[in-house]
Amino acid sequence: MTIKAVRGVHDILPVEAATWQHVEATARRVFEAYGYREIRLPIFERTELFARGIGEVTDIVQKEMYTFVDRTGESLTLRPEATASKLRAYIEHGLHVQPKPVRLYTVGPMFRYERPQAGRYRQFHQLNVEALGEQHPALDAEVIAMLIDFFKALGLADRLQLELNSIGDAACRPQYRERLVAYLRAHAARLCEECHERTEKNPLRVLDCKKAECRPVLDGAPALADFLCEACADHFARVRRYLEAMGLAYVINPRLVRGFDYYVRTTFELTTTHLGAQNAVAGGGRYDGLIELLEGPPEAGIGFAIGMERVVLLLGSTVETPKPVALLIPLGEAALARLLPVAQAVRARGVPVDLGYGQRKLRAELERANKLGVAHAVIVGDAELERGEAIVREMKAGAQRTVPLADLAAELCVLGGRA
Ligand code: HAM
Repeated sequence: MTIKAVRGVHDILPVEAATWQHVEATARRVFEAYGYREIRLPIFERTELFARGIGEVTDIVQKEMYTFVDRTGESLTLRPEATASKLRAYIEHGLHVQPKPVRLYTVGPMFRYERPQAGRYRQFHQLNVEALGEQHPALDAEVIAMLIDFFKALGLADRLQLELNSIGDAACRPQYRERLVAYLRAHAARLCEECHERTEKNPLRVLDCKKAECRPVLDGAPALADFLCEACADHFARVRRYLEAMGLAYVINPRLVRGFDYYVRTTFELTTTHLGAQNAVAGGGRYDGLIELLEGPPEAGIGFAIGMERVVLLLGSTVETPKPVALLIPLGEAALARLLPVAQAVRARGVPVDLGYGQRKLRAELERANKLGVAHAVIVGDAELERGEAIVREMKAGAQRTVPLADLAAELCVLGGRA
């Protein structure tokens, strides 16, 4: 039996590569314009980092991690997200001595054992951003603005909605939690099994339940917004004011609690109606206190991650795969020896050309040129060699002209836009 890829993982094939590269290049350009620098992180860490950083009672830690024991008996985990790793590196390398906020981004695969479906994978890729060491609510607005700028640059912003919430902090959330648990227990009979479990373990997540049977109870639940302490309420009001000052539209979603324990105050998601059940394209929030929890300095932080597969799905096949400018067709060994250095010189200038190896008939090579979708074929046989010329054929029109062999490399550079 042939071996196939593992369920829930996927290959990114050459036809998709241009789109992926475009998404990544756009992210780098936008993030770097805001002062973010790249950090490259390992894809596995000690399991404890995620258990502590993401939260022991979250679905991710309890059900979705790829955890294994290595040869020394140590428990390691393929990263389910990048925030905990990034903070680990920030603390480990003393990056906090740099001027604040320290702005970092990273790109790469994440691993979660989730039920695979369209837009949901077990290995997926994120563009991940964190700004560390600054509490000011203007940073929240700036981070969100950058996220939107990225989607504007891809021409996707008008297909997305910005959802915003504040989930309070250690000063006000416990009171809310208590009231919520009392309410959920009182209405337990009309809630699903998972909601019962969450009521006891991670009650805010109950608000996230998508089941229709639970909606009436959840719609009547006490609202976190009514419990925010003065500091959280002021922070949230200012984030909203700054977003409005930048002309950024948002909707308040009081149920946006997100699946990580580390969030405080601002949480946000970019959602779409174009991807079926997987409606979140990006999500993030503030996590003041997390750096300290991981034994770093008592500093604030905020960030987000964008799901690259979902961005690529939204883009569709709008980014064209680049094609060679020409196929060089030597007819025979002597012509091949003459065209090899031409191809090399042109490629060295960054102009993509393809080259036949002199074994196939002209007709077969012209067919190949058509299949490759090249605009030009360059034909050199013994007669052309003798005259010191090459035939340049425009594939679409079929028109042919001759070019001195000595000028061929320069001519191909012109055709490739590198005069
Ligand atoms: P998250 O909401 O779990 O947040 O993931 C962010 C995005 O990654 C989602 O909106 C989605 O587009 C994509 N994503 C998540 N799971 C999958 C999956 N199984 N298959 C395909 N795409 C997926 C975080 O990961 C936080 N660490 C974000 C953050 C950074 N918060 C603060 N800093």
